[in-house]
Amino acid sequence: MYTAAYIQATQTQTLAFLKNVNAITVFNVEALRNVLRMHEYMYYVQDAPKITDFDYDNLYQVLKKIETENPICITPDSPTQRVGNSLTGNFATVPHLVPMLSLENSYNAADLIDWDRKAKEAAGLQNISYCVEPKFDGASISLLYENDFLVRGTTRGDGVQGDDITANIKQIKSIPLRAAFSKYGVTSIEFRGEILLNKKNFEAYNNTLMAQNLPPLANPRNAASGSLRMKNPMEVGKRNLEAFVYHVAYLTTNNNTQHATQSHHADLEMLWNLGFKSPIKEVKVCNNIQDVIDYTAAYEAKRDNLPYEIDGMVIKVNDLALQDKLGSTSHHPRWAIAYKFKARQATGKLVGVEYQVGRTGAVTPVAKIQPVAIGGVMVSSISMHNEEFIAERDIQIGDTVVVERAGDVIPYIVKILPELRNGNEQKIIYPTLCPVCQSQLVKPPEEAVWRCVNYTCSAQIIERIIHYASKDCMDIRGLGDAQIRKFCDMKMVAALPDIYNLNYAQLSKLDGFGKKSMDNMQAAIAASKTQPLHRLINALGIRYVGENTSKILAQHVAHLFDLKTMQIEQLQQLDDVGIKVAASVYEYFNNETNIIILEKLEQLGVNFVGNKGQINTNTDGSLSGKTFLFTGTLNIYKRSQAEELVEAQGGVILSGVSSKLNYLVVGDDAGGKLEKAKKIASITILTEAEFEAMIK
Ligand code: IVH
Repeated sequence: MYTAAYIQATQTQTLAFLKNVNAITVFNVEALRNVLRMHEYMYYVQDAPKITDFDYDNLYQVLKKIETENPICITPDSPTQRVGNSLTGNFATVPHLVPMLSLENSYNAADLIDWDRKAKEAAGLQNISYCVEPKFDGASISLLYENDFLVRGTTRGDGVQGDDITANIKQIKSIPLRAAFSKYGVTSIEFRGEILLNKKNFEAYNNTLMAQNLPPLANPRNAASGSLRMKNPMEVGKRNLEAFVYHVAYLTTNNNTQHATQSHHADLEMLWNLGFKSPIKEVKVCNNIQDVIDYTAAYEAKRDNLPYEIDGMVIKVNDLALQDKLGSTSHHPRWAIAYKFKARQATGKLVGVEYQVGRTGAVTPVAKIQPVAIGGVMVSSISMHNEEFIAERDIQIGDTVVVERAGDVIPYIVKILPELRNGNEQKIIYPTLCPVCQSQLVKPPEEAVWRCVNYTCSAQIIERIIHYASKDCMDIRGLGDAQIRKFCDMKMVAALPDIYNLNYAQLSKLDGFGKKSMDNMQAAIAASKTQPLHRLINALGIRYVGENTSKILAQHVAHLFDLKTMQIEQLQQLDDVGIKVAASVYEYFNNETNIIILEKLEQLGVNFVGNKGQINTNTDGSLSGKTFLFTGTLNIYKRSQAEELVEAQGGVILSGVSSKLNYLVVGDDAGGKLEKAKKIASITILTEAEFEAMIK
């Protein structure tokens, strides 16, 4: 336990060691380990380092050397033991000792008052005291310590079991490898927390991604959960993740008590005293619901000043015995509730509108506003979708607009503030010509957007090439948005086939094209020629043809050009192909310009061979010939994982509900697809658990 006296004494020891590193030997190596542990704690938990990184590294290297020379003296909780020396393969699935439940949500004071009333009724009490703490917006984890040692770290998984990510967890320095739970009589303990990447480190990480021409991550939450599942623990160490721990889920003690302390607050104190980053300094004990409401409001006001993202507060019954009495439903505890903050808003002045031409020619108006910070992100460009969006909100140039970041990711304009108009506003005049190629825009009657229908419009060509090279299509790493725009700008690329004839000698003279990245890009371009046909079909960007339909088309042709000979009626016979898709495919393969491009691609060696004859060779697969579609949020599997399971057993994934569908698997918050499927008697509707049972 890091008392002030302990820290002081350890600091004195640190200085002595630094003064004479030769005095450190195998005989006082544990003192050196304690020194390093204390500095990890000061740096990562307290955010108050007491020595320089240089001095820390120096001492760490001394420890490493002594341990290498005397392996017998290594202890499992030595600071050197965070670093595993091997890659983690696939993560093993391990059960949580008690399920990791989620929380019920509330959005306003009335919700909280209602929840408090129900809790008091259930408890038979006049008043309940609550702990209110931040709701960290990261990736949740479960930690298991036995006899004071960290034995396991797990992801949430499906709540019942998660992935064993212990090697990665050990890289997070605010998680001690050993903690003196035994002082509290605790022999084993499973507790929960959240892994975060703070705003500063998130930005730094995104900058390194962008420097390598990789797409930046959308938000710190994705960055944290992605980091936890990396194969190389050393890489995890480099990300500077932090761990907040906030809930003791299960423990055993040497006197068989169910809890180590009497209250949630005391649990957080225990964790803090043992060297963990618990939110003890952020938590407030409130003696009635009005205090809770006031604290959440006060905290929300300082949300943007926090170093990390939070998306609300969590209110927990403080008394652990009362928590037990209130119990849980199968989804969430009755003794806790999340209070979600409102989406972040800011206002900005609209200074202009630009029009972007997409891959299919759709022209999207983009509002240019004077840059405003929303939740730590500067926003200056916001999509306004289409003409109707502008008309509905009566948006004019010069208006002050209210901008919201929905889900804290994509900003959009909620409304304008008409009271701030001064009469100088100008109506937005929608263009009639394509801003790039000047051809006449058209608006098909059933659509909301204006389109440039000039297939050779350079903006569309660029977007088509970007789509072609993207991850879910031909997956050409290193040939990203920025490179493609540059090559097109320089007229090195004018059409898709040109990417296979790049002049690398010329490219190597350009700024920002290093030898290594160029070699990688060249290899990736060459490798794309052997991608399976379904990826190529998806890459062509045929309207209404996505990943699933591409797979179905590829399964039914021996060669891509077989699609040239298929009539609309024939196409419609295929799974997942309705009239709209069939007409679009037909039109694509009966267009002279497309065929010329495709012929060039074939000459260049791009694979055009399909899987006809091999369709569902997996006919002994238990799902052979059956069609599936997933809708809503899945909890047990990731969507891609579930789809792979179906395909591995010979099943086919469709992209829409039709009479060709056999099974609709429904996750949380399913919408239109479920309603539609209910009207088609031949479709079997499955819950995710039923689906799981079926494939097992
Ligand atoms: S308590 C049984 N406390 O929010 C309840 N959860 O939607 C255990 N979260 O899965 C959770 N901050 O990942 C709790 N201070 C906090 C939290 C918190 C973030 C996450 C957690 C949970 C999710 C619930």
